[in-house]
Amino acid sequence: MVQLRGVVALDGPSGTGKSTVSRELASSLGARYLDTGAMYRAVTLAVLRAAVDPADGVEVERVARAVELVMGTDPLGPGVALDGTDVAAEIRGAEVTGAVSAVSAVAAVRELLVEHQRAVVRAALDQPGGIVVEGRDIGTVVAPDAGLKVFLTASSDARALRRSAQDNAEGRAGDVASTRADVQRRDALDSGRAVSPLRRADDAVELDTTELGVGEVIEQLHKLVERRGLLA
Ligand code: DC
Repeated sequence: MVQLRGVVALDGPSGTGKSTVSRELASSLGARYLDTGAMYRAVTLAVLRAAVDPADGVEVERVARAVELVMGTDPLGPGVALDGTDVAAEIRGAEVTGAVSAVSAVAAVRELLVEHQRAVVRAALDQPGGIVVEGRDIGTVVAPDAGLKVFLTASSDARALRRSAQDNAEGRAGDVASTRADVQRRDALDSGRAVSPLRRADDAVELDTTELGVGEVIEQLHKLVERRGLLA
């Protein structure tokens, strides 16, 4: 089986199909997978459980330093353990989604999690198979030396439709209008924050997925990986 060598960084806003394609790419190339958004979500869940105001940077940092976060890297079932308990489902709820932008804007939280993310990447690179890392600042901050950086985009309508379909499929209420408003609000917060805002790395390939199905995106990514000489 062909395997990935090194790091693929996949960045972009929510609803671009990033998680689905990152996981499928990783599993098709025998690679590990890291969902960095899940890490910001898990810290947010801990903040909410501690009844801390997500806008209170000092308290948010205290919670972030106190929790134990263990990230699974199997693309077929990446677990997220918060203080020893799996929270993979809970971190997708509306409460966490509503508060995660505030938590991920706290510089100390980002420093902690970026350090953790780099450690996961280093551990993966010690094994055969490489790693696909998805997020907002992978190509710019977490893995600036990644062998391939891709920035996924899609129209905000397409992204809202995908998000609400995903919410409905996973048993959460997801009407398109409120999802569109939420997607736009989070984009503005993620792109406008002072620390590591969402932006395309200068050397990232931009891929607009508005008109593309998952299979077509994967096909394009496979071509890019091959052209970069990242197959072992
Ligand atoms: O990809 P997601 O929707 O699960 O990400 C949740 C939030 O975490 C998103 O609003 C932005 C933030 N995030 C971030 O700031 N940096 C990352 N590398 C990944 C996610």
